[in-house]
Amino acid sequence: MNDASKDPDSSNPLPLARNTSASVTVDGLELIVADHNGELYAYENLCPHVGESLDPIGGSISSEDGSLLRCQRHAAEFLSHTGECVGGPCLGESLRPVPIIVVDQTIYLD
Ligand code: FES
Repeated sequence: MNDASKDPDSSNPLPLARNTSASVTVDGLELIVADHNGELYAYENLCPHVGESLDPIGGSISSEDGSLLRCQRHAAEFLSHTGECVGGPCLGESLRPVPIIVVDQTIYLD
């Protein structure tokens, strides 16, 4: 659903620096939004390992080249562009993707 008519959330992290990520709450849903080479990807901010947030410390959880997202709890690594876990304790599981749209540098659920 296009929810662009609602007020934007004050935690909107855009614009994101290239190859970084940030947490944001959109319509009550906690997301990790990641930039990888200029493309944005959004996932529920829940690690499949234990079902807790990926970023209890805060800040970007992206690798230097933006290709991976690393959980700050036990270092599981996820492909930024698919959410698939490729290393760590939940190997083979995936982050749950969330469709978003961006309007005027503001994130909305799609
Ligand atoms: S909670 Fe993410 S790796 Fe353990």
